[in-house]
Amino acid sequence: MEPAAAATTLWRARALPILLAMLAAAVAASARGGAERAPTLVFILAGQSNMGGRGGATSGNRWDGVVPPECAPSPRTLRLSPSLRWEEAREPLHAGVDAGNVVGVGPGMPFAHALLRSPACPRGAVVGLVPCAQGGTPIANWSRGSEMYERMVARARVAGAGTGRVAALLWFQGEADTLRREDALAYAGRMEAFVRDVRRDLALPNLLVIQVGIATAQWQGNQQGKWLDLVRKQQRAVRVPNLKYVDAMGLPIANDITHLTTQAQVRLGKMLAAAYISTL
Ligand SMILES: *[C@@H]1O[C@H](CO)[C@@H](O)[C@H](O)[C@H]1NC(C)=O
Repeated sequence: MEPAAAATTLWRARALPILLAMLAAAVAASARGGAERAPTLVFILAGQSNMGGRGGATSGNRWDGVVPPECAPSPRTLRLSPSLRWEEAREPLHAGVDAGNVVGVGPGMPFAHALLRSPACPRGAVVGLVPCAQGGTPIANWSRGSEMYERMVARARVAGAGTGRVAALLWFQGEADTLRREDALAYAGRMEAFVRDVRRDLALPNLLVIQVGIATAQWQGNQQGKWLDLVRKQQRAVRVPNLKYVDAMGLPIANDITHLTTQAQVRLGKMLAAAYISTL
């Protein structure tokens, strides 16, 4: 045998088992759904139904299943599951979290997509989304000690552990506070307390908060909340450091006159990504 041919045979004999072992490991990892990976940029998503996502889920009692390319899954976008495990994120992002509701497309997936496509996004970033929204909840349901607040903080703590880094809290809530004038008037103060408490409990004193200006009022019975303008005014009056405001007003609303459509959520996701990127 020529020396070169002998070397090739030796290489094959040694390399083949190694290659097969690597392939088996890769198959096992993909079967685990990427659960062994940790994100590098973590975002908490909280609020009520428009954060939970109702795009394509506003007529009948089911989601239409339409996933635009901007909401498609990617190996670089994970979500913290209801059982606190990282898994590849897919629509509906709030499945199993926004309990008791028919969930559809929200702003989280298009946010991650737009962020990862931005030249400003750190190279090799893996986005971790932590869905925490619950439909119909007024901000009083998110005060420190409440079920919603404690669930969110517990999930954010798990998500921020290890190599994950909590980059921002995305907040889309306030529709339920349009029903009563007292709630609308108290909104800015309650929001300021909420932000202060979250930052303290997560030991992240400068945690970026991106607040979405609401576009619609809540329905209760056959009446829609009267205090949309007042809540919006209060939202703009929130005074805490490191708070960004993104306005959903003007985005397309579904026939239920309450929820953003799938395309509106895609646009909102891009706006949220732009707001985050502007802070880098
Ligand atoms: C929200 O608050 C109301 C009134 O206190 C309560 O009845 C309801 O159970 C709360 N909902 C959630 C999801 O925390």
